[in-house]
Amino acid sequence: MGSDASLTVCPDPAALAEAAAQLVVDAAGEAVRERGRFMLCLAGGETPRATYARLAQPELSGRVRWDRTWIFFGDERAVPPDHAESNYRMAHESLLSCVPIPPGQVLRMRAEQPDAEGAAAAYAAQIAGAFGTRRGELPRFDVVLLGLGVDGHTASLFPGSPVLREVFRTVAAVHVAAARIPQRVTLTFPVLNAAARVVFLVAGPEKAKIVKTVLVEQSTLPAAMVRPTDGELVWIADRAAAALHPVGEVR
Ligand code: 6PG
Repeated sequence: MGSDASLTVCPDPAALAEAAAQLVVDAAGEAVRERGRFMLCLAGGETPRATYARLAQPELSGRVRWDRTWIFFGDERAVPPDHAESNYRMAHESLLSCVPIPPGQVLRMRAEQPDAEGAAAAYAAQIAGAFGTRRGELPRFDVVLLGLGVDGHTASLFPGSPVLREVFRTVAAVHVAAARIPQRVTLTFPVLNAAARVVFLVAGPEKAKIVKTVLVEQSTLPAAMVRPTDGELVWIADRAAAALHPVGEVR
């Protein structure tokens, strides 16, 4: 593992959720102290649900300045926000509806719009507006949470997709034939790799093989292409997901 990357192995998914929620609380405090606001990008999928639920509990939630926090999404499926497959819905149910965040500070990807490219461009503009970045400048998220698919995808950056080569746009529409919901909107590598801290959350035995491939072997899979240029890369895995990982031999 490079000096800018770390792997924390937790005994079980509950401990993973605890570690990740604590990390978010600490990062929020630091960001608000240093920059006056906390820019947090959430992961989709199922793994982060327990982390969001833990973060929503008063003991941790009370330590976050939600009035100074902005919420973004790493990717979204082309479904309405109340759909069972919506990443927004999962985050709303487990976290956002439970904490005093001003609704205008939750920036949802409108991936359900028929004009997917338009939705991606609109989200890029919303990000730029929230960060105050100009054309050509990249936003720097304080924390980006990501999940890992068994095929090595992360966010909606899937193996073989042309979007992996994107260098200009911060947000793109993608079509992934193999995915349950093929049409999606996703952040791209330039913006993920500009973050101050990227945190992968990975749990379960079905992820053990891909964790090893991404972290130990010289992989060109999307998850292995997440390498913050001037930021920290953190992996938090439960014991089952890290089972094939020879600690100390990462990358
Ligand atoms: C999505 C995701 C995706 C997810 C991984 C892991 O919208 O599908 O953001 O990248 O994080 O597929 O998902 P699980 O946590 O459900 O295994």
